Amino acid sequence: MARATDTPDTTTDAAVLRLRRVSHTYTGRRRRTTVLKDIDYALERGTLYAILGPSGSGKTTLLSLASGLDTPTSGTVSFDGRDLKELGLGRYRNKHAATVFQQYNLLTYMTALQNVTCAMEITGTRPTSGSRRARALHLLEQFGIDRAMATRNVLRLSGGQQQRVAIVRAIACDVDILFADEPTGSLDEDTAQGIIDTFRALAHDEGTCVVVVTHSQALAARSDRTLVLRKGRLTEQPKTR
Ligand SMILES: Nc1ncnc2c1ncn2[C@@H]1O[C@H](COP(=O)(O)OP(=O)(O)OP(=O)(O)O)[C@@H](O)[C@H]1O
Ligand SMILES: [Mg+2]
Repeated sequence: MARATDTPDTTTDAAVLRLRRVSHTYTGRRRRTTVLKDIDYALERGTLYAILGPSGSGKTTLLSLASGLDTPTSGTVSFDGRDLKELGLGRYRNKHAATVFQQYNLLTYMTALQNVTCAMEITGTRPTSGSRRARALHLLEQFGIDRAMATRNVLRLSGGQQQRVAIVRAIACDVDILFADEPTGSLDEDTAQGIIDTFRALAHDEGTCVVVVTHSQALAARSDRTLVLRKGRLTEQPKTR
Protein backbone atom coordinates (compact mmCIF):
# COMPACT_ATOMS: atom_id res chain seq x y z
CA MET A 1 0.00 0.00 0.00
CA ALA A 2 1.50 3.33 -1.01
CA ARG A 3 1.11 6.08 1.51
CA ALA A 4 2.31 9.56 2.24
CA THR A 5 2.08 9.74 6.01
CA ASP A 6 4.48 10.38 8.84
CA THR A 7 3.91 6.99 10.46
CA PRO A 8 6.71 4.50 9.87
CA ASP A 9 5.33 1.32 8.34
CA THR A 10 6.52 -1.98 9.74
CA THR A 11 4.32 -4.32 7.70
CA THR A 12 5.68 -6.30 4.77
CA ASP A 13 4.22 -4.96 1.54
CA ALA A 14 4.58 -4.61 -2.20
CA ALA A 15 6.90 -1.60 -1.97
CA VAL A 16 9.89 -1.78 -4.29
CA LEU A 17 11.36 1.48 -3.03
CA ARG A 18 10.71 3.01 0.34
CA LEU A 19 11.66 6.46 1.58
CA ARG A 20 11.58 6.78 5.34
CA ARG A 21 11.74 10.19 7.01
CA VAL A 22 13.90 11.49 4.19
CA SER A 23 15.17 15.06 4.59
CA HIS A 24 17.75 16.81 2.47
CA THR A 25 19.68 20.02 3.06
CA TYR A 26 22.15 21.68 0.71
CA THR A 27 24.91 23.47 2.55
CA GLY A 28 26.39 26.47 0.79
CA ARG A 29 29.10 28.88 1.96
CA ARG A 30 26.58 31.29 3.43
CA ARG A 31 23.43 29.33 4.07
CA ARG A 32 21.75 25.98 4.29
CA THR A 33 18.68 25.16 2.22
CA THR A 34 16.43 22.37 3.39
CA VAL A 35 14.78 21.13 0.23
CA LEU A 36 13.04 17.96 1.44
CA LYS A 37 11.43 17.52 4.84
CA ASP A 38 10.57 14.19 6.41
CA ILE A 39 9.32 12.43 3.33
CA ASP A 40 7.72 9.03 3.86
CA TYR A 41 6.59 7.21 0.79
CA ALA A 42 6.49 3.71 -0.65
CA LEU A 43 6.68 3.15 -4.40
CA GLU A 44 5.18 -0.02 -5.85
CA ARG A 45 5.92 -2.12 -8.91
CA GLY A 46 3.55 -1.97 -11.87
CA THR A 47 2.60 1.62 -11.16
CA LEU A 48 3.15 4.85 -13.09
CA TYR A 49 3.72 7.81 -10.76
CA ALA A 50 3.77 11.47 -11.76
CA ILE A 51 5.49 14.04 -9.55
CA LEU A 52 4.38 17.64 -9.92
CA GLY A 53 5.71 20.71 -8.14
CA PRO A 54 6.91 24.25 -8.80
CA SER A 55 10.37 24.88 -10.21
CA GLY A 56 12.91 24.66 -7.41
CA SER A 57 10.63 22.59 -5.16
CA GLY A 58 13.11 19.70 -5.05
CA LYS A 59 11.84 17.23 -7.67
CA THR A 60 15.27 16.55 -9.17
CA THR A 61 16.74 16.33 -5.67
CA LEU A 62 14.10 13.75 -4.73
CA LEU A 63 14.88 11.70 -7.85
CA SER A 64 18.61 11.85 -7.17
CA LEU A 65 18.05 10.36 -3.72
CA ALA A 66 15.56 7.75 -4.97
CA SER A 67 17.86 6.77 -7.84
CA GLY A 68 20.94 6.39 -5.66
CA LEU A 69 22.91 9.33 -7.06
CA ASP A 70 23.03 11.03 -3.70
CA THR A 71 22.24 10.10 -0.10
CA PRO A 72 19.76 11.98 2.08
CA THR A 73 20.97 14.23 4.89
CA SER A 74 18.77 12.14 7.16
CA GLY A 75 16.38 9.24 6.73
CA THR A 76 16.72 6.12 4.60
CA VAL A 77 15.97 4.91 1.11
CA SER A 78 15.55 1.16 0.72
CA PHE A 79 15.14 -1.09 -2.30
CA ASP A 80 13.26 -4.37 -1.75
CA GLY A 81 13.74 -3.92 1.99
CA ARG A 82 17.51 -3.21 1.83
CA ASP A 83 18.99 0.18 2.64
CA LEU A 84 20.68 1.51 -0.52
CA LYS A 85 23.83 2.21 1.48
CA GLU A 86 24.00 -1.46 2.42
CA LEU A 87 23.10 -2.67 -1.08
CA GLY A 88 25.63 -0.23 -2.59
CA LEU A 89 24.56 2.86 -4.51
CA GLY A 90 26.56 1.85 -7.59
CA ARG A 91 25.10 -1.64 -7.65
CA TYR A 92 21.58 -0.26 -7.25
CA ARG A 93 22.10 2.25 -10.06
CA ASN A 94 23.67 -0.32 -12.37
CA LYS A 95 21.30 -3.22 -11.85
CA HIS A 96 17.97 -1.97 -10.59
CA ALA A 97 17.29 1.61 -11.64
CA ALA A 98 17.45 3.60 -14.87
CA THR A 99 17.13 7.36 -15.16
CA VAL A 100 16.19 9.79 -17.91
CA PHE A 101 17.98 12.91 -16.70
CA GLN A 102 16.55 16.40 -17.04
CA GLN A 103 19.72 17.44 -18.92
CA TYR A 104 19.87 14.04 -20.74
CA ASN A 105 23.46 13.28 -19.59
CA LEU A 106 24.25 11.35 -22.75
CA LEU A 107 27.84 10.27 -23.27
CA THR A 108 28.82 12.93 -25.77
CA TYR A 109 31.78 11.11 -27.29
CA MET A 110 29.48 8.28 -28.39
CA THR A 111 26.77 7.71 -30.96
CA ALA A 112 23.12 7.33 -29.95
CA LEU A 113 23.37 3.60 -30.58
CA GLN A 114 26.47 3.26 -28.38
CA ASN A 115 24.76 5.19 -25.59
CA VAL A 116 21.92 2.66 -25.61
CA THR A 117 23.95 -0.55 -25.98
CA CYS A 118 26.41 0.62 -23.32
CA ALA A 119 23.56 1.03 -20.81
CA MET A 120 22.21 -2.41 -21.76
CA GLU A 121 25.62 -3.93 -21.08
CA ILE A 122 26.00 -2.21 -17.70
CA THR A 123 22.56 -3.38 -16.54
CA GLY A 124 23.15 -6.87 -17.95
CA THR A 125 20.13 -6.56 -20.21
CA ARG A 126 19.82 -9.32 -22.80
CA PRO A 127 17.07 -9.06 -25.41
CA THR A 128 14.77 -12.10 -25.65
CA SER A 129 15.87 -12.45 -29.26
CA GLY A 130 18.63 -10.90 -31.35
CA SER A 131 21.58 -8.78 -30.34
CA ARG A 132 21.69 -5.71 -28.11
CA ARG A 133 22.62 -3.69 -31.16
CA ALA A 134 19.56 -4.90 -33.10
CA ARG A 135 17.26 -4.28 -30.14
CA ALA A 136 18.70 -0.78 -29.61
CA LEU A 137 18.33 0.11 -33.30
CA HIS A 138 14.74 -1.15 -33.26
CA LEU A 139 13.82 0.90 -30.19
CA LEU A 140 15.54 4.02 -31.52
CA GLU A 141 13.67 3.62 -34.80
CA GLN A 142 10.37 3.38 -32.87
CA PHE A 143 11.16 6.76 -31.37
CA GLY A 144 11.99 8.35 -34.71
CA ILE A 145 15.77 7.93 -34.59
CA ASP A 146 16.67 6.15 -37.81
CA ARG A 147 19.89 4.23 -38.41
CA ALA A 148 21.69 7.24 -39.91
CA MET A 149 20.92 9.34 -36.83
CA ALA A 150 21.62 6.45 -34.46
CA THR A 151 25.15 6.05 -35.77
CA ARG A 152 25.97 9.74 -35.58
CA ASN A 153 27.62 11.39 -32.57
CA VAL A 154 24.81 12.42 -30.19
CA LEU A 155 25.93 16.05 -30.26
CA ARG A 156 24.91 16.11 -33.91
CA LEU A 157 21.27 15.47 -32.99
CA SER A 158 18.63 18.06 -32.12
CA GLY A 159 17.57 18.64 -28.49
CA GLY A 160 14.35 16.66 -28.96
CA GLN A 161 16.25 13.83 -30.67
CA GLN A 162 18.78 13.73 -27.82
CA GLN A 163 15.91 13.59 -25.34
CA ARG A 164 14.45 10.60 -27.18
CA VAL A 165 17.85 8.86 -27.12
CA ALA A 166 17.96 9.44 -23.35
CA ILE A 167 14.51 7.88 -23.04
CA VAL A 168 15.42 4.88 -25.19
CA ARG A 169 18.64 4.39 -23.20
CA ALA A 170 16.53 4.04 -20.04
CA ILE A 171 13.67 1.94 -21.40
CA ALA A 172 16.04 -0.46 -23.20
CA CYS A 173 17.31 -1.61 -19.82
CA ASP A 174 15.71 -4.38 -17.86
CA VAL A 175 15.39 -2.65 -14.48
CA ASP A 176 12.93 -2.57 -11.58
CA ILE A 177 12.50 1.19 -11.43
CA LEU A 178 12.62 3.85 -14.13
CA PHE A 179 12.98 7.51 -13.17
CA ALA A 180 12.34 10.22 -15.73
CA ASP A 181 12.94 13.90 -14.96
CA GLU A 182 10.77 16.04 -17.25
CA PRO A 183 11.31 13.59 -20.10
CA THR A 184 9.00 15.34 -22.56
CA GLY A 185 10.15 18.93 -22.03
CA SER A 186 11.64 19.23 -25.55
CA LEU A 187 9.04 17.15 -27.36
CA ASP A 188 5.91 17.98 -29.33
CA GLU A 189 2.51 16.91 -27.95
CA ASP A 190 2.11 13.75 -30.09
CA THR A 191 5.61 12.50 -29.32
CA ALA A 192 5.05 13.24 -25.63
CA GLN A 193 1.84 11.18 -25.66
CA GLY A 194 3.76 8.31 -27.29
CA ILE A 195 6.36 8.46 -24.49
CA ILE A 196 3.65 8.26 -21.86
CA ASP A 197 2.06 5.30 -23.67
CA THR A 198 5.45 3.59 -23.47
CA PHE A 199 5.81 4.35 -19.76
CA ARG A 200 2.29 3.07 -19.06
CA ALA A 201 3.02 -0.15 -20.94
CA LEU A 202 6.29 -0.63 -19.03
CA ALA A 203 4.45 -0.26 -15.73
CA HIS A 204 1.34 -2.25 -16.58
CA ASP A 205 2.75 -4.99 -18.82
CA GLU A 206 6.29 -5.41 -17.45
CA GLY A 207 5.61 -4.56 -13.80
CA THR A 208 8.20 -1.76 -13.73
CA CYS A 209 7.80 1.03 -11.21
CA VAL A 210 7.91 4.21 -13.33
CA VAL A 211 8.35 7.65 -11.76
CA VAL A 212 7.96 10.69 -14.01
CA VAL A 213 8.60 14.28 -12.97
CA THR A 214 6.54 16.65 -15.06
CA HIS A 215 5.03 20.11 -15.23
CA SER A 216 2.22 18.82 -17.42
CA GLN A 217 -1.15 18.22 -15.73
CA ALA A 218 -2.27 16.41 -18.89
CA LEU A 219 0.60 13.98 -18.56
CA ALA A 220 0.02 13.58 -14.83
CA ALA A 221 -3.62 12.76 -15.53
CA ARG A 222 -2.48 9.63 -17.37
CA SER A 223 -0.47 8.35 -14.40
CA ASP A 224 -1.82 5.89 -11.83
CA ARG A 225 -0.85 8.13 -8.94
CA THR A 226 0.03 11.80 -8.80
CA LEU A 227 2.29 13.21 -6.12
CA VAL A 228 2.89 16.87 -5.45
CA LEU A 229 6.09 18.28 -3.95
CA ARG A 230 5.64 21.64 -2.31
CA LYS A 231 7.58 23.36 0.47
CA GLY A 232 9.60 20.21 1.05
CA ARG A 233 6.58 17.98 1.60
CA LEU A 234 5.23 15.23 -0.64
CA THR A 235 1.49 14.70 -0.78
CA GLU A 236 -0.73 12.58 -2.96
CA GLN A 237 -3.17 14.36 -5.23
CA PRO A 238 -6.50 12.48 -5.36
CA LYS A 239 -7.48 11.31 -8.82
CA THR A 240 -10.46 13.10 -10.32
CA ARG A 241 -12.43 10.66 -12.45
N1 LIG B 1 23.87 21.03 -5.69
C1 LIG B 1 23.11 21.98 -5.11
N2 LIG B 1 23.64 22.82 -4.19
C2 LIG B 1 22.90 23.76 -3.58
N3 LIG B 1 21.58 23.93 -3.83
C3 LIG B 1 21.00 23.14 -4.74
C4 LIG B 1 21.73 22.12 -5.43
N4 LIG B 1 20.89 21.48 -6.27
C5 LIG B 1 19.70 22.07 -6.12
N5 LIG B 1 19.76 23.07 -5.21
C6 LIG B 1 18.63 23.91 -4.76
O1 LIG B 1 17.64 23.04 -4.24
C7 LIG B 1 16.34 23.46 -4.64
C8 LIG B 1 15.64 22.34 -5.39
O2 LIG B 1 16.30 22.10 -6.62
P1 LIG B 1 15.82 20.97 -7.63
O3 LIG B 1 16.75 20.98 -8.79
O4 LIG B 1 15.67 19.70 -6.90
O5 LIG B 1 14.36 21.55 -8.05
P2 LIG B 1 13.33 21.07 -9.14
O6 LIG B 1 12.00 20.92 -8.46
O7 LIG B 1 13.86 19.88 -9.86
O8 LIG B 1 13.25 22.34 -10.12
P3 LIG B 1 12.98 22.41 -11.72
O9 LIG B 1 11.49 22.16 -11.91
O10 LIG B 1 13.36 23.81 -12.05
O11 LIG B 1 13.82 21.38 -12.39
C9 LIG B 1 16.54 24.73 -5.44
O12 LIG B 1 16.33 25.83 -4.58
C10 LIG B 1 17.98 24.66 -5.89
O13 LIG B 1 18.53 25.94 -6.05
MG1 LIG C 1 14.46 19.58 -11.83
